[in-house]
Amino acid sequence: MTRTVYVNGDYLPETEAKVSIFDRGFLMADAVYEVTSVIGGKIIDFAGHSVRLQRSMSELEMVSPVTMDELLAIHRELITKNDLDEGGIYLQITRGAPGDRDFAWPDPEEVPCGIVLFTFNKPLVDSKVMDEGIKVISIADERWGRRDIKTTQLLYPSFAKMQAKKKGCADAWLVEDGLVTEGTANNAYIVKDGTIITRQLGNDILHGITRAAILRFAVEAQMKVEERPFTIEEAQQADEAFVTSATGFAQPVIEIDGATIGTGVPGDISKRLREIYTEEMIKTAI
Ligand code: PDD
Repeated sequence: MTRTVYVNGDYLPETEAKVSIFDRGFLMADAVYEVTSVIGGKIIDFAGHSVRLQRSMSELEMVSPVTMDELLAIHRELITKNDLDEGGIYLQITRGAPGDRDFAWPDPEEVPCGIVLFTFNKPLVDSKVMDEGIKVISIADERWGRRDIKTTQLLYPSFAKMQAKKKGCADAWLVEDGLVTEGTANNAYIVKDGTIITRQLGNDILHGITRAAILRFAVEAQMKVEERPFTIEEAQQADEAFVTSATGFAQPVIEIDGATIGTGVPGDISKRLREIYTEEMIKTAI
C-alpha cells in the first residue's frame, strides 16, 4: 500500500513527497525527531514526546512550524489516512532549506523549519523478540556530547548497530569512561538483587519517554530504583538486563559481550515491567 505522508503542510502519497536538496536536515543533520508508537490506532504518550520535541527545538534555537495541537491533529490524520493499527509515527523537524549550504544557521524569520511525518507498521504488543530477549555487544560511545537533544545525527549509532550485527547480536551498549551510557536507540538497565539500576539523566543520554514511564511504574509497584551508571562487568554479573524505547517498550537483554545474563532467559522484573507498561499505555493512549 502506498503510504500517505505529511510534508510541510501537505498530505501526499509517499512517492510524490519531496524535500529540497538544500534542506539542512539533509546536508547537516540539522534536524530533530521523535518516534511515537501507536496501538489500536491510538497514540502512546503524545504529551511526553511533544514536551521533549519542544525542548530539543529550543536547545537548538529552532522555531516550531506547528503548534502541539496541530501536531496531534497531523498524527491523528495520518493514522486515519493510513489505517494504522499498530506501529508508530516518525516525525522530523529540520532547520529548513535556505537555498544554499552555509554553516551558519539561517534567520528563522526568513527560512521556516521544515516538517515531515510518516507512519510505519510494526507489531509492538506481541513480539517474538520480547519473549526471547536480545544479545548485545559493548562499543565505545563516540557520539557528540549533547545526546539529550534528539537529533538526526545517527551515523555513529547506526555504525554501532552494524558492529553488533556482524557479531550476531541485535544491538550495542555504548560505553564512555568505562560506564554504560545507553543503547544505540534505547535506554539501558540492569537488575541486581531486586534493584533496577539505570544511568541518571544528563547531557550524555537521551531522556527516554519510555524510561520516565517505566521508572514511574516501577516505583508505583514498590520496586527499588537506583539512578546511577554501571560498567559492562557489573551488567554481566546482574540478574537481569533490559532496554526501553518507544518502539521496543521494555525488551529483555540476555547476553552482553558473550556473557549470559542471569539464567539466559528474560527475567521476571523485565517481563513484569513490560506487562505493566503495555497495560498502562494502552489505557492512556489518545
Ligand atoms: N530511539 N536513547 C536513544 C539514543 C534513542 O535513540 C532512543 C529512542 C531512546 C529511547 O527513548 P524513547 O523511550 O523516548 O523512545 C534512548 C527511537 C525509538 C529511534 O531512534 O527510533
